[in-house]
Amino acid sequence: MSRTLIVSNRLPTKVLRTDEGLTFQPSEGGLATGLGSIYRRGDNLWIGWPGLFVQDEAEEAHISQELRADNMAPVFLTESEIHDFYEGFSNGTLWPTFHYFSDLATYEQSHWEAYVAVNQKFCEAVLAQAGPDDTIWVHDYQLLLLPEMLRRARPEAAIGFFLHIPFPSQELIRVLPWRTELLEGMLGADLIGFHTFGYLRHFLSAVSHLLGWPAQNGQIETPTRTIRVDAFPMGIDYERYAKAATSEAALAHMAEYREALRDTRVILSIDRLDYTKGIAQRLRAFDLLLQRYPEWRGQVSLIMLVVPSRDQVAQYASLKEEIDELVGRINAQYRTISWNPILYFYRSLPLEELVSLYSLAEVALVTPMRDGMNLVAKEFVASKVDKKGVLILSERAGAARELSDAIIINPTDMGQLAESMHEALVMPEEEQITRMTAMQALVRRYNVFSWSRLFINQLAYTKMKQHTLA
Ligand code: UDP
Ligand code: G6P
Repeated sequence: MSRTLIVSNRLPTKVLRTDEGLTFQPSEGGLATGLGSIYRRGDNLWIGWPGLFVQDEAEEAHISQELRADNMAPVFLTESEIHDFYEGFSNGTLWPTFHYFSDLATYEQSHWEAYVAVNQKFCEAVLAQAGPDDTIWVHDYQLLLLPEMLRRARPEAAIGFFLHIPFPSQELIRVLPWRTELLEGMLGADLIGFHTFGYLRHFLSAVSHLLGWPAQNGQIETPTRTIRVDAFPMGIDYERYAKAATSEAALAHMAEYREALRDTRVILSIDRLDYTKGIAQRLRAFDLLLQRYPEWRGQVSLIMLVVPSRDQVAQYASLKEEIDELVGRINAQYRTISWNPILYFYRSLPLEELVSLYSLAEVALVTPMRDGMNLVAKEFVASKVDKKGVLILSERAGAARELSDAIIINPTDMGQLAESMHEALVMPEEEQITRMTAMQALVRRYNVFSWSRLFINQLAYTKMKQHTLA
């Protein structure tokens, strides 16, 4: 029977080294949480990195065995690969470039070489697992070269590629010394998917300007093959969040938080620690809200959950310091004996606690500078069982293309951001319910299951067309 092999740098389970030995925990990040629900439903295999440097063969064997039992096949990275491929090229070059932070990008030949070598390593790992009828679905910016490497080894294989981050204007791609190889790497796939039509248009323009290959009707014609490209906005496992929101565990957490907060109203933000997420700007906007509307002092708290991420990359470490300082300054300025303006948590939380925060909050602040999609916005919507609550959403998140009933803001416009928080806090319940009902209908319908079905069916159709034309 044919399977789908999901291939991504990060597995949905991460292994941590603790005092008690190795522990296995769910990974954070939209790719892992979103696809996590899908791959468990069928006979699928997920190939990827378990998130730590493994010291010896015994440890490797133990991790492989544990993950194997849950349909995962680990690809182990050496310390220098983690440094040069993961922190270096993936998160020091591609991540900033694709999110319009080119000034933060580094261009190191040695990082590029590690990127090529690790993509090759993934290629070998996939070939060791893939049967002739298996569909191979490669994910995200860490593996842009993999589709072409797989194509060379298996010319007939059904290969899909999905990019979970924005695809920027070709002017930014042009800056990369390795732009040709990267684009050609992606074009090894039969079907290439993006979250929005905007990203898709940028990709087509890059392919036409930089490689000279034209596109028509969602198809790119290369001298040897036809490749299909399309937009597939990723959804979430809606019922998982809706159900969790009414679970006993979540209700117990809610009651506990409510008691501690008494009547304080809650604005919530949840992100990985990342400069693309606009966390510092959001804090300054909250400060401005308290300046412009002193009546909210003592009445509203910002609960801010920041999940540790990529802390070995310099820009992430310095952002952490900036956030710590800002929170300290704002809290010191406004706090009273009985009220904290900002409740800041630097850790990750299990699903029940996450969902109880979504339920508790009246307002969610999702204000990235750039974000491929942003699943937190959709999870907030799905968790609002009573339909009350307001989503403030950046126009530069992929999710804004779908969630037009949110208050849509420009995340660099601090004044607008402060005003939108005020607007959300005074929004009549009736309006909240109308907006939330519309957003829930959309997020429920276009969930992660329909997303993956659409992609896989489109891939099968593309393959069939290629065969009938051949
Ligand atoms: N998340 C998590 N644990 C936490 C906080 C967040 O698993 O403590 C999840 C969150 O539920 C969401 C994902 O991390 O599914 C973040 O995805 P998003 O698309 O918003 O941003 P990304 O991190 O992928 O850039
Ligand atoms: C984003 C990326 C994913 C990545 C995740 C977490 O969602 O699109 O590919 O897995 O962030 O980042 P990390 O570097 O911890 O894998």
